[in-house]
Amino acid sequence: MIAVMKKLQVPKERVKLHRGWFDQTFPKIDVPQVALAHVDCDFYEPTKLCLNKWYPLLAPGGFMQFDDYDAFLGCRKAVDEFLGEHQEIQMQTLGENAKAYFIRKRSQDGVCLSGEVLCPQ
Ligand SMILES: C[S@@+](CC[C@H](N)C(=O)[O-])C[C@H]1O[C@@H](n2cnc3c(N)ncnc32)[C@H](O)[C@@H]1O
Repeated sequence: MIAVMKKLQVPKERVKLHRGWFDQTFPKIDVPQVALAHVDCDFYEPTKLCLNKWYPLLAPGGFMQFDDYDAFLGCRKAVDEFLGEHQEIQMQTLGENAKAYFIRKRSQDGVCLSGEVLCPQ
């Protein structure tokens, strides 16, 4: 993570790492809004924790991407359950073979903060 942030020239003071298991670290993290949540934790329970913690905090137009949706049954199950409980959210994909799977937060009027209109699927 540190190496990637360095490569992207993100200033050190803008990076905060929280080491530990999600069930212990998430309750202590106070982040008002999230633009992109990259979920890469393989299994059912942590994926579920990520969905419940970070989806509500996504900014309008924000993304939540699932690295393991195609690779780990636990991840897929957690995401599919979440989508089953939130029929208004639809999975989107990008790419052909190695697909990216993501969901996106819409604002009530379908317009995100940048003014971009979020089209339905
Ligand atoms: C495939 S690795 C990906 C790590 C990182 N995103 C990367 O690309 O290097 C999956 C990671 O999820 C972490 N993980 C799984 N369950 C977790 C949990 N409940 N809390 C915190 N991390 C968890 C594992 O420790 C592992 O480091």
